[in-house]
Amino acid sequence: MKKITIAIDGHSSCGKSTIAKELSAILGFRYVDSGAMYRAVTLFFLRNQIEFRHLNLVQESLKDISIAFKMNLENKLQEIFLNGENVEIEIRVNPRVASAVSDVSAISEVRKFLVKQQQKMGEEGGIVMDGRDIGTVVFPQAEIKIFVTADAKIRAQRRFDELKSKGQETTFEEVLANLEKRDSIDSTRDDSPLIKSKDAIELDTTNLSREQQLEFVLKLLNEKNATMS
Ligand code: DC
Repeated sequence: MKKITIAIDGHSSCGKSTIAKELSAILGFRYVDSGAMYRAVTLFFLRNQIEFRHLNLVQESLKDISIAFKMNLENKLQEIFLNGENVEIEIRVNPRVASAVSDVSAISEVRKFLVKQQQKMGEEGGIVMDGRDIGTVVFPQAEIKIFVTADAKIRAQRRFDELKSKGQETTFEEVLANLEKRDSIDSTRDDSPLIKSKDAIELDTTNLSREQQLEFVLKLLNEKNATMS
């Protein structure tokens, strides 16, 4: 397969990253979880008590943030590093990050800072990136764009099961409320709201197994491949 760019956008916890990781492993492409970058910036602001309503403070502190992904050689998964520290687990289990990340990702300064880095990572193609604005803003020229969605209750149940398996104390109702709040902020913000790009293919994962989701995407890839060669 040519080193194309695959953009996967969609709501929180709808299975985007699972599909993206499986695809990148099959194709030998780089996988980038752009949401992890917004979570890492949020963690930095929380730890350093940056009042992110003050844009001058935000702008100033972005200079102190360095984000990198490194491959964990044991499980072959990418992990995110914030200023040299592996924060892969903390950004996902810390409830303060989950509560604040949508507000932080609505800040244009933060988006500019991260979009630039994401575009650099994709300069040479051969990349699968998931997020909310990948097909619309980061890689509008992506050869394949997929917009993933699923029923909110199903998504909350998947997220609740995931958090429980990581030992996190929470309730289904809390997880659902957080997810609906994030969806609403992500979809209504002024800068790069979550919208389906006109040329994206929609994938509703509500009633689909992992295997069926992958089958759907691989079929799409084969069709694309046939038209490109
Ligand atoms: O995919 P996720 O749930 O880990 O994303 C965390 C938050 O980051 C989510 O509330 C929306 C935001 N985000 C974004 O605004 N743009 C992206 N490209 C990726 C994530």
